[in-house]
Amino acid sequence: MSALTPLKSSLGQPAEGERKYFHRPAVVKKIQRQLNNNEHLLISAPRRIGKSSILKYLKNNPASGAINLYIAVQSVDSSDEFFKKLFNELIKNAAVFKSVEQYLQGIKQNLKNYITRITDVEFSITKLSAKVTVGDSEPIDYYQECLAIFTALERHQRISIFFDEFPDVLTNIRDKNLAIKFLQQHRDLREALSDKALNFVYTGSTGLKNAVKRLDRLDLINDIYEIKIPPLTTIEAFELLSRLALGYAEYNAYFTLTEKTKCYITEKISWKLPYYMQIICSELFEQYEDDGIELTETSVDAVLTAIVRSNSTHADYFENWKRRLRSSFLEREYPFAIEVLNYIAIHERITAAVFHDLSVKHQVDDHHYVLDVLIHDGYISEDRQQYGFNSVLLKEWWYINVAT
Ligand SMILES: Nc1ncnc2c1ncn2[C@@H]1O[C@H](COP(=O)(O)OP(=O)(O)OP(=O)(O)O)[C@@H](O)[C@H]1O
Ligand SMILES: [Mg+2]
Repeated sequence: MSALTPLKSSLGQPAEGERKYFHRPAVVKKIQRQLNNNEHLLISAPRRIGKSSILKYLKNNPASGAINLYIAVQSVDSSDEFFKKLFNELIKNAAVFKSVEQYLQGIKQNLKNYITRITDVEFSITKLSAKVTVGDSEPIDYYQECLAIFTALERHQRISIFFDEFPDVLTNIRDKNLAIKFLQQHRDLREALSDKALNFVYTGSTGLKNAVKRLDRLDLINDIYEIKIPPLTTIEAFELLSRLALGYAEYNAYFTLTEKTKCYITEKISWKLPYYMQIICSELFEQYEDDGIELTETSVDAVLTAIVRSNSTHADYFENWKRRLRSSFLEREYPFAIEVLNYIAIHERITAAVFHDLSVKHQVDDHHYVLDVLIHDGYISEDRQQYGFNSVLLKEWWYINVAT
């Protein structure tokens, strides 16, 4: 095995660049394989699993000749805004722009005329450097403009577009009919462009499928192939800890994690998210900086206890798990879901029978939906017909801060 290189911590932003990103070749290859297969993808995984980090890696490392675009759409709240944003990203890309230019020459349309039709768009790569504004021009239909650009692309030009936090757009749109229309536009685009080497990749921490199920229109996304991002394996988690420790040792050469301590962490954290490895390592380093005492299993226990306290610097991460339930569930479902999670936090597991009894108590008809969301969004999973928290840390936090 080659020597491990140090990795710098990244605690808030996605991990990007060789110095910060811990490569996950198995997941990356799986995604790349499906992109080459010309599949549109849905990559859904719970918060902080490392979706955006993987997408940014793919953006920065496209297959030879391919174009990978990354667009964060979390704040977008209408179809118009969405396609305007997409149009901006497309036109900013030199290779895409070149294709459009060639296409326009082909149909003898003047590039300048084309561009002057588009208002309020920054053209960083065109010779027309300033913003182009046309007083009384017709409003631009950015959906159609995007379609035109995609149509102009060479058939073999591989282009993959990663929409990060896509399900949030549906939630933001609010109006059910407009949300359905938006999904229909995407479906139409995918169909109209099926002869292109084009992939749309929809990502997000809230389940797109559950959101679409609520709209009763699963048919609008049934052409999308779903890929799940798993947590780290024990070997990966171990390696990540080792490399982060080397990174911290660049600040304090005496800082080290013994094999025993790393084993203890990976065993204790049943659900091995890169994020957990990052915060545990960071906390252990801070503790070592403060007291200089050798780190042991007891130090790990102390750090884990501190992480789940209500006043922890990581409290917002856990709070978010609770907050998110509000947007996933209707009136009666929400208190039902909370009580289910409280029950699991206290009793470790819940049986199907108790789950059913609680749904009757809360007068929730579609309790399967609630169970699906809790499983799909990463709260709980099944083990021998009982359900327990995936994450020991979330379970502890829930027990201390919600259930008791
Ligand atoms: N490949 C990785 N290498 C190093 N750290 C990572 C990696 N993936 C995730 N992390 C850690 O987890 C944190 C969250 O990563 P990222 O933003 O990619 O996850 P996400 O699934 O997109 O989260 P969210 O659902 O909040 O958008 C990062 O700040 C970093 O601490
Ligand atoms: Mg993200």
